[in-house]
Amino acid sequence: MESNVLTSTNSNGNLRNYDEVCDSFEWSQAEKAFSWAETGLVNMAHEAIDRHADSDKGNKVALYYSDQHRKEEYTFKDMRDYSNKAGNVLKDSGVTKGDRVFIFMPRSPELYFLLLGTIKLGGIAGPLFEAFMEGAVKDRLEDSGAKVLVTTPELLGRVPVDELPELEKLVIVGDDVKEDEKTINFHRQFEQASSTLDIEWVDREDGMILHYTSGSTGKPKGVLHVHNAMIQHYQTAKWVLDLKDDDVYWCTADPGWVTGTSYGIFAPWLAGVSNVIRGGRFSPEDWYQTLENYKVTVWYSAPTAFRMLMGYGDKALAKYDLSSLRHVLSVGEPLNPEVIRWGMQALNLRIHDTWWMTETGAQVICNYPSMEIKPGSMGKPVPGTEAAIVDDEGNVLPPNSMGNLAIKKGWPSMMRAIWNRPEKFESYFLAGDWYVSGDSAYMDEEGYFWFQGRVDDVIMTSGERVGPFEVESKLVEHPAVAEAGVIGTPDPVRGEIIKAFIALRDGYEYSEELEEEIRNFVKRGLSAHAAPKDIEFKDSLPKTRSGKIMRRVLKAWELDLPTGDLSTMEK
Ligand code: WTA
Repeated sequence: MESNVLTSTNSNGNLRNYDEVCDSFEWSQAEKAFSWAETGLVNMAHEAIDRHADSDKGNKVALYYSDQHRKEEYTFKDMRDYSNKAGNVLKDSGVTKGDRVFIFMPRSPELYFLLLGTIKLGGIAGPLFEAFMEGAVKDRLEDSGAKVLVTTPELLGRVPVDELPELEKLVIVGDDVKEDEKTINFHRQFEQASSTLDIEWVDREDGMILHYTSGSTGKPKGVLHVHNAMIQHYQTAKWVLDLKDDDVYWCTADPGWVTGTSYGIFAPWLAGVSNVIRGGRFSPEDWYQTLENYKVTVWYSAPTAFRMLMGYGDKALAKYDLSSLRHVLSVGEPLNPEVIRWGMQALNLRIHDTWWMTETGAQVICNYPSMEIKPGSMGKPVPGTEAAIVDDEGNVLPPNSMGNLAIKKGWPSMMRAIWNRPEKFESYFLAGDWYVSGDSAYMDEEGYFWFQGRVDDVIMTSGERVGPFEVESKLVEHPAVAEAGVIGTPDPVRGEIIKAFIALRDGYEYSEELEEEIRNFVKRGLSAHAAPKDIEFKDSLPKTRSGKIMRRVLKAWELDLPTGDLSTMEK
């Protein structure tokens, strides 16, 4: 394997001597970087924006925004003033500390002003991916008890306002918005709003952002993060993203996912760098053009996107000047060695894998610019965090053993709650101290971690987490569907695709139209990315005696594997 190791050509990384730093680093050292270390006054949005606005970085571009229709630039001073204005609009809508403000809209500068404005008020921001349909939107607003929803006229139709008694105000970002007692025209109020705002100073442990994410059972759960997470966002911006003052940084993720907030908003702005946000959908030419136009130096994306670029061919790539790029990172799914080889050949750069999850709030296991990369490995724990492979009782296993990838409690950006579900939160911790990730992995003798798979049935498709239960629940709402079981099957580009096994109700027969109708039913009810690409019809599905669909057996069928112990199966 040694010959496969990629040595670093970047000895100038912010983290130069990994082992030395690991030995001596304490998180309290990172706290010195924040103004609250002196003033005692805490608020993430202040550290990310206002502090820079008030410094010699005030006129530096904080946000380069573009999409098909808009191309705009905002300095840190602009971001301060506009997030203050947005904060004032929300304040007038009744938002106070601890209130949940959900933001359901496509990427646009306003989204960022409003998210920061929410945090400035001490509110808890809940970003929702624009592709969510009514069922997905309702579940999240209901569970969180959202008080205010920010959305657009186009998306409003997917919000079942009458079924959400706790929702007091709708802030609509768009043209020709009719106002009433409940509805606020954002643009009108924003124009008039003051650009000064008294920031709500909070406790480090106060809630800041709520991301809903999927598990293998039950509805999506609300993962709560607090202001304290900024310590890890800042420190990993330095060590992992390797951000320096002159960098132009682009994270391709939407803020509806944790990567789009932790690393699309907080980390780059805490580090005071210029942040590129590109709205709209993925297209290879558009992405290369974005890298070229903004002379992006540090780029954070995902394996599915890299694989798509790879598949698009190097001819397209050759049209663009990407010479500004110096550091490329990946997250969300296993980064195949083949993609790393493509990166070396096409970009002449190593792609650095990073592992973390919604629940960890920030990067945990990473490849660093100044470290050797073993293609296929996720790298090593961020200094100050302790990761290990543990068995199901929480005993640490020796190198090269497969087991649960676990992290020692106490890293700064750890989730602080699962909204409304304290027992669920507790269930993640083994032997008191170990957070168990749900991923299986092993660690080699040199301390590199290697991803093996999910322990549970969670599906990763195009880097997005889809809970099979949520899709199954939607499927059985269709009048033709008696039973449904959903699994992920391997796909060369998307990592996994969603496959549903379905048993029809009496009186229904398979037809192509029915199949399409069922697929669209999930698309309309949840979202396009949750809809099964592949549907297989069966007379009945394997179930346990208690009636639970055995996804393990479906998976074995699909992959032609032995079905294993079937003793609990209903005969
Ligand atoms: C998977 C995304 C392999 C993993 C930030 C994890 C990865 C889940 C990697 C979290 C990686 C994330 N290699 N798998 N580098 N990074 N994953 O919450 O299964 O959307 O548990 O967070 O993605 O997905 P989430």
